[in-house]
Formats: sequence, C-alpha cells, structure tokens
Amino acid sequence: MAPPARTAGAAVTALSVIAMLSYIILSNSRSRSKSSSRRATVKNSGSGLVAAIGNTPLIRINSLSDATGCEILGKAEFLNPGGSVKDRVAVKIIEEALETGALAPGGVVTEGSAGSTAISLATVAPAYGCRCHVVIPDDAAIEKSQILEALGATVERVRPVSITHREHFVNIARRRASEMNELALKNEKISETSNHIVESHGSNCLADCKGGFFADQFENLANFRAHYEGTGPEIWEQVGGKLDAFVAAAGTGGTVAGVSRFLKEKKSSIKCFLIDPPGSGLFNKVTRGVMYTREEAEGRRLKNPFDTITEGIGINRLTENFKLAALDGAFRGSDREAVEMSRYLLKTDGLFLGSSSAMNCVGAVKVAQKMGPGHTIVTVLCDSGMRHLSKFYDAQYLSQHELTPSASGLEFLGLGADMKILNGKHTPKS
Ligand SMILES: Cc1ncc(COP(=O)(O)O)c(C=O)c1O
Repeated sequence: MAPPARTAGAAVTALSVIAMLSYIILSNSRSRSKSSSRRATVKNSGSGLVAAIGNTPLIRINSLSDATGCEILGKAEFLNPGGSVKDRVAVKIIEEALETGALAPGGVVTEGSAGSTAISLATVAPAYGCRCHVVIPDDAAIEKSQILEALGATVERVRPVSITHREHFVNIARRRASEMNELALKNEKISETSNHIVESHGSNCLADCKGGFFADQFENLANFRAHYEGTGPEIWEQVGGKLDAFVAAAGTGGTVAGVSRFLKEKKSSIKCFLIDPPGSGLFNKVTRGVMYTREEAEGRRLKNPFDTITEGIGINRLTENFKLAALDGAFRGSDREAVEMSRYLLKTDGLFLGSSSAMNCVGAVKVAQKMGPGHTIVTVLCDSGMRHLSKFYDAQYLSQHELTPSASGLEFLGLGADMKILNGKHTPKS
C-alpha cells in the first residue's frame, strides 16, 4: 500500500494537474499565437537573475590536491542562483525555445526530472514570463518536490518505471506539453468562434498560458550547448590553459559532453573521463563500446531504485547529449566511495556537496591515481548537500543501505592516512 504521504501527494498532484489543464481550457486566448508566429525577442536574456548564472569559481580542493600531488579543482556550480549546474541548461533551453517560437512567452515548460533541472527551470522560468510543470520520480529526495512547489511549479510525483513505459516521468512530461498545446489550440478556436472572453479564476497564474513546451533535457542539444558555450570556456579561462584532465559523471550527458568537446578542441591532449555510478551502462559503453548487458537493458527490467543512492547521474540509454562526449576512458565509482568522499570533504575542506559532486570528486582522485602527481584535474561540484538531507546525509537511510561512513581519511580510495597513494603511481613523499 502506498504510504499516506505519497497518497496525499498524488491527490494534490492530480488536483494541480487538473487545475492547470482547466485553466488552460478556460483561459483567455486573446493573445495566443501560433508557433510559427510566436518567435520572441528573448526578454531578460543576460540581465537580472539570468546574469547571475554561470561564471562560478573554480575552487582548489585542498585536501585532495595535497593527498594526490595533483591540482584538483572543482567548478563550484552549487553557487548558481538555482543551486546547481542545471541553471545554465534551463536558461539555454528556454532561450532557444523562445527564439524558435517552440515556447511562447507565458507558456508552460514541462520537464521529467529527478530534480535539479526542474528546480532550475522553475527558478528561471518566471524571468522569461513562463512557468513550469514537473514530473518527478517518487524515489527522489522529498525536499526536491517541496522546493519545486515553493517555487510555484506544479509537480507530479510518479513511480519510477522503464523509459519504454508510457508512464515513465519523461514520457508523461512530454505528453503534458502536447496536451497543453492541444487544449490551448482548442481554446483559441473557441474564442475565434465566439466573442465571449472567459476570465480565469484561481491563483496559479495559468490563465494566460500560451501552451506547453517539453524541455527534454536528455535529448535537447541546448543542454550540450550550455556547457560547450559556457562551462567549458569558463574552465579553460580559469586554468589559463594549464589543464591535463577533466572528469565528471553523466545523467543527461550534457555536462561531460559539452565540456569535454570544448576542452579537446582547445587542447587535444587534455584527457577527459567519465566516472560512472552503480547501475549505469555508460562505463561499458565508453570502455567496451556496448551500452549495457542484456539484463540491464531498460525495457527488460524495471529500474531498480537502489542500484545507486546517488541522484541525477547514471543512465542505461544513450542520449543525444552524451553521444557528443569526447572521452578517453571511464572509471566506476561506488556508493560507498561517494558517501565517504562527501564526509571527508565536509570534514577537511568544509565542502558540503551533493551525491553527484561527491562522485565527481571520487573520479578526480581516480584520475590523479591513474595519471600520477603534477597534473591539473578539473571536475564539477554540481549541487550542495542541502538538497540531499533526507537520503545521502541521513544516517538512518545510509544505515539501511549498509553505507554508514566509517573512513578516517581517504583509505577507501587506497590513499594512506599519511597522504601517500598506496595503490597508484604516486611516489611516497619521504
Ligand atoms: C545534481 C546533478 N548532478 C549531476 C547531474 C548530471 O549532469 P548531466 O545531466 O549534465 O550529465 C545531474 C543531472 O540531472 C544532476 O541533477
């Protein structure tokens, strides 16, 4: 039986969706325009909140740098206004859609997201006069949907199922956008045939909705471009051209693809790596050219929500964004390594990081161990630990998954307490 919170949540969700669709049906269509004619000069591009996105600091992670003899630098994306690396993606997706007319000012951006992208879309959408509807798997940390609702987005929490299933959160989000477009069109026809203008009611400001647009962060290459045109060039400038390696985990693949491709074009000797969490097929794809094992194929089994406790990373299908990555290799990272890394960085550097950032730092150490000391390695600090209190930073949750952190240093990665690499190429200091 569904827990009461989930049942109540589902009821609220259903009501919000019905309310939203009703508003669209009833809405005043005076200013609705067809997609071919709704290209807009993008309002607020590069000013206000939008201007505060990006240009994040590149932080030296002192403990990991000292331990490995490499310069390990983290791009502090958690400092973006919406709290994650996805702010850049949200801006790019919305701006491109407004420019092409796929999204009209006042329209609703829909997305199926485990959290961060949706939070960023909900954060930036009002700056463009738009709003946001999010379909989220119900195993994502509860604080993510709470934040979304507080930001004014409507939220549907659904059971995680295979991407081939009609009810997968991404497929539902795509459907919601077309439903909104159909209803808005119907509404337009009604208003064309009668002079009667139906005024809207309620508080969710959807009365003037101009239809929907599916953000589609997995396949929409605006995601790649956000990193190819933003994150990559910023990193290149911040290291002053002195860079040996870049490493990151992939969810949509936008970050690792955009950054790796940009950096390789600047300097082909920069090595780019993937760090892949448990349950993801990308490690096999990069190292063996095969996306997944037979039993892992999505569509043949339900996604096991406990393949990994990390959020936003790992996938069992090849996205258009990931296809553009320029990678030299891949590492596997475990949940235990990510948990231990997060506590270690909190203790030694004061860095309070989310699960994907912790995994990226695991990746940075693995790259340092592979390359040896003296190299400069960059990774991404995607979001902060604040969005991960109910799972990744919850003692009871970790204990249930036998992941209670116990390391005193970096021994979980083969680094001794005296800061010498035990299993790598690092020559002991003395
Ligand atoms: C917190 C977090 N970190 C990392 C990622 C992975 O980034 P990308 O989608 O660019 O591969 C995501 C993706 O949703 C995320 O939400």
